[in-house]
Amino acid sequence: MSNTGEQWSPSNYVTHASFVPALTSRVVSLLAPTRADNILDLGAGDGILSIAIASQAASVHCTDGSRPMVEYAASRVAEGNIANVTTEVIDASTQVKEQVPVGKYNKVFSNAAYHWIFGSLPSNEARAKAIQDVYDILPQGGQFVVECGGHGNIGEILVALVSVVKSAWAKKGVDKTYADIKAKLWPWYFATNDEIEEWLKAAGFKIELLEREYRPTTLNNGELGMKGWFDTFGFTFLEGLTEEEKHASIAEAVELLRGADWLEHGGKWVVGYVRCRFKAIKE
Ligand code: BEZ
Repeated sequence: MSNTGEQWSPSNYVTHASFVPALTSRVVSLLAPTRADNILDLGAGDGILSIAIASQAASVHCTDGSRPMVEYAASRVAEGNIANVTTEVIDASTQVKEQVPVGKYNKVFSNAAYHWIFGSLPSNEARAKAIQDVYDILPQGGQFVVECGGHGNIGEILVALVSVVKSAWAKKGVDKTYADIKAKLWPWYFATNDEIEEWLKAAGFKIELLEREYRPTTLNNGELGMKGWFDTFGFTFLEGLTEEEKHASIAEAVELLRGADWLEHGGKWVVGYVRCRFKAIKE
């Protein structure tokens, strides 16, 4: 479990992760925004997808637990003079009930964030509670539409990260166990579909769709893509190391991953993403 809020870098996100809002046709088609919809977007990151969805909705409230990301999203909304997008810092793991008025939004949406939200919580009980909070603020008939990393997501990256973190600390004479890394440096929880189903049903949702997809994902920026991915998303694993040690660890992880994810003939990195998607209704 790791609290990441202020460490997010909007410029890294825009440079190295533009595929995140781009690969969303399936989850946006499940959301099926209409001019009657007031949508709450949880974990909206740079806000690009919120802004795109707003062109088909009455309004979108673009929220994220990271203040720098929300400030960046707000600046894009202001630059684009977009009247129907509002922004707010909301940590969806614990603040939904206290910050979101009941019944204000008929749809709650989230893309590529719930693995961070679940990862910041200490137990499955707390994860079920975060889902319950969404149920409680929706009106009758309200929809909860989500895509996030599912069980098995980025397996090869996790192996590489654990390996380089252990070896960096070993060089400093510290035996960092897998349990230490998992407890303190690991920001994600990739839930199984069984877990998601249990939490949604326990909250009272009717599940209209729950699916899992292996979706190999091409990173931005050719050869530099994997390093960019680590700089953008993998920073918590390197906490406590010097800048030099961080650079060396990322370089080592990139080399470890070459066999699994580097496409020599395409000149690009393709990572083993597994998506979990669901659409649930408050009946
Ligand atoms: C994902 O969207 O699956 C993901 C993104 C960044 C870090 C880990 C997972």
